[in-house]
Amino acid sequence: MAENRSIHGQWSSRLMFVLAASGSAVGLGNIWKFPYITGENGGGAFVLVYLACIALVGLPIMMAEVMLGRRGRQSPINTMADLASEAKASQIWRLLGWLGVVAGFIILSYYSVIAGWAIAYVVRSAAGTFTNVTADGVESIFGALVGDWERLLAWHTLFMVMSMLVVARGVHHGLEKAVRVLMPALLVLLLILVGYAFNTGHFQQGFDFLFKPDFSKVFYQCETIAGAQSCSFTGEPLLVAMGHAFFTLSLGMGAIMVYGSYMPRKSSIAGASILIAIMDTVVALLAGLAIFPIVFANELAPGAGPGLIFQTLPIAFGAMPGGRFFATLFFLLLVFAAWTSAISLIEPAVAWLVEKRQVSRTRASIACGFTAWLLGIGTVLSFNVWSGEEYQLFGKTLFDLLDFLTANIMLPLGGLLIAIFAGWVMTRQASADELRMNNAGYAAWRFVIRYITPLAVVLVFLKAIGVL
Ligand code: PFF
Repeated sequence: MAENRSIHGQWSSRLMFVLAASGSAVGLGNIWKFPYITGENGGGAFVLVYLACIALVGLPIMMAEVMLGRRGRQSPINTMADLASEAKASQIWRLLGWLGVVAGFIILSYYSVIAGWAIAYVVRSAAGTFTNVTADGVESIFGALVGDWERLLAWHTLFMVMSMLVVARGVHHGLEKAVRVLMPALLVLLLILVGYAFNTGHFQQGFDFLFKPDFSKVFYQCETIAGAQSCSFTGEPLLVAMGHAFFTLSLGMGAIMVYGSYMPRKSSIAGASILIAIMDTVVALLAGLAIFPIVFANELAPGAGPGLIFQTLPIAFGAMPGGRFFATLFFLLLVFAAWTSAISLIEPAVAWLVEKRQVSRTRASIACGFTAWLLGIGTVLSFNVWSGEEYQLFGKTLFDLLDFLTANIMLPLGGLLIAIFAGWVMTRQASADELRMNNAGYAAWRFVIRYITPLAVVLVFLKAIGVL
């Protein structure tokens, strides 16, 4: 099979792969998106479905994706082409690589805009804007930011330039060391925030919201028509929970595949994947535990939407001793977490351009970054000029639509195809050779990836569109 190393370089050890892949996984998805979609989807039952999806769908697919990458040793498009030849399957599997590249561009386009909010909040925190701020105060600070498209565009531009600088240099340089220090720092700050939330007096309520599942609240939509209440099942939260499992673990679009292609041959894939999934889940749950007690203590709406963390955490920082320092550090670390995710979003496209067109990494990064930046203008405008109903489709703004299309449709579809390829197309010998697990572990993985994972994804899709 392909050469033993990728032409793009290799991580210096397994630990470096774990750090880089956790850098990709832990990002805005954990700290910004998880709390707000949990709030919008009613809490505990949603969280439970999400956790089940991480274990039954996310983890096996992560192992499969890393394995495909390491065996192919190229960009996802060429990896899929080679692995399809190896398995004597159709070259149509290349399309799986393309699906990922397109998803990567779209996600990066809006991801950069949201990361831009975090940069804006670093500046506001450092300036002391949040000291003793009230709930109304933060709401108007947030409203003023997202209402001003010129500011959003400026921050979006800055973040995109920052990301492309790293991608141009190659993801191996600099990133590894930085992740090693900053990830634990982020964890410590989250713990401080949870500690603060513990003292708000509403910790129990926040905890119950996250961990006491009430399925009737999440999966049934009730309306009162002519005095009578009628409730019907809604599958959308199911799809959102599954989509988020893919999004938060960076699965289904080749990001983890391309990182896997830089992984040294002897490292264990299963161990690394389990570690990454646990780390990612812990960060998300801690973020939830920090935020919801503040939401309830200040009588805010859990379903406030994408602004949730930006409208809650500043209240906590504003009230705690040393809050100005902690707030600045927190939003800086959030920017950093977003940064290490953003570079993985575009790496599949850049690696492909370098392989195919033999352009330099710098040129490939500029071209990709510019395209994603341009697309991002649509998201910038979604929060202000195009926020009105006349610009919405199915009640969703352009940002919501792009997010829905990528996280809830493209990533699960990509993941489903990865599961089918790894479980049914690739030979047993090839996957066993690459995973090198003990017999029982391998048999369990193979059973799950062949049957359980594809079935779960298909069932959730069918439930969500109302066929089941
Ligand atoms: N996992 C990242 C997060 O949770 O913020 C987002 C992401 C990165 C999604 C890379 C997909 C991806 F390929």
